Amino acid sequence: MSVSMTKKTWLLGGIAAVAVASAGATMFANGSPKVDGPATAAKIVASLTERCPMATPGDVAAFDTCRTTIGQGPEGEAVGTASVLWGGEQPEKALKDKNLTWFRGDLFLRMYVSLYMFTGEWTGEARDDGTYVIRTQAYFRNELPPGHFPYPFWHSSAKWDAYEKSNQISLYLSPDGKVKMVTRHSGGSDSARPAGYKHVEPPVFAGQWNWRDESGQAQPQVTLFSDLYSANNPHLGELDQRYRAFALNLRDADCESCHVPDGHKLMRKLTLLNTPLHTAGEVEATLRSIRESSMPVNKQGDKVKLDPALRETLLRNGDEFRRLLNEADAWELSNGTGRLARAAAPRG
Ligand code: HEC
Repeated sequence: MSVSMTKKTWLLGGIAAVAVASAGATMFANGSPKVDGPATAAKIVASLTERCPMATPGDVAAFDTCRTTIGQGPEGEAVGTASVLWGGEQPEKALKDKNLTWFRGDLFLRMYVSLYMFTGEWTGEARDDGTYVIRTQAYFRNELPPGHFPYPFWHSSAKWDAYEKSNQISLYLSPDGKVKMVTRHSGGSDSARPAGYKHVEPPVFAGQWNWRDESGQAQPQVTLFSDLYSANNPHLGELDQRYRAFALNLRDADCESCHVPDGHKLMRKLTLLNTPLHTAGEVEATLRSIRESSMPVNKQGDKVKLDPALRETLLRNGDEFRRLLNEADAWELSNGTGRLARAAAPRG
């Protein structure tokens, strides 16, 4: 099954479940959740707290330990490598109306959940539709260097503010034991927020999702293949080159005018294509959308025909990019480097 089918099936399923629940019925998965919510929650929270414990919010070493080991425990099993939705909790909105962003699960844990420090406190909430919501107490590492965030969250001061004020990460566990959605919210408790936690004035956002720092290093560094893979991974150089070619094609096809972090203006469930790791996570869906000519669209949502030569180049570079990603993953796995939380065999 393709990634895009998985996403849509999940979303429709979620909406249907909400509709059933609001009609007063309580049936989902034959009325009996298969997963033991509280037991799973306890294991996941313990693992997150062990890997990503409370620290000072600018502690890069603590952050590095968290992001390189997150996903290797029960949280990795529950999130997996399928698509997961992430964003603010937006409690007043139904799922279909929430502004959320899609990620490949393992990359999401590494790039986003790792930005939080967990206290180990949690509460659980069993819902009529079979979902078990794990609400964990967690605080955002707001003093990290700018390139340690997967994109400049401060492109919107409201977004940066929401991250700083958040004190709860909720994992939505579905009856099959998989986490399908993760949210951040300020509706928890500030009781364990570190003393001296204060607002950080982020850099000025100059409209660049990617940039170079004073030393010439490409940023955000946490979104680069050199960050995910071992330095001696033999596929790294070629992977990087092929990504660049593919990214240029995506730019030529205008994909980047919408599939960037401020793209929620145009879609409630956003797909990001603005960095190497974000694009890696969406490569299947991207290739599918081009093959099926469902993308690109214009701002009215009407399909736009791609120049045939560009379409062909996109598919060729995209296929090659995907092949190299799988090769690079396979090398890490067979060499037991522990660099990949993604434990499954590489996809063909
Ligand atoms: C004018 C804005 C716009 C442009 C340009 C655009 N898209 Fe999209 N894209 C959208 C919208 C809107 C959606 C639908 C989101 C939803 O409602 O699920 C979408 C969805 C997607 C998805 C998710 C599909 C899925 O089911 O997983 C992918 C992948 C995608 N676009 C790739 C591309 C690519 C590749 C290009 C360039 C060739 C492109 N888009 C150009 C607006 C755009």
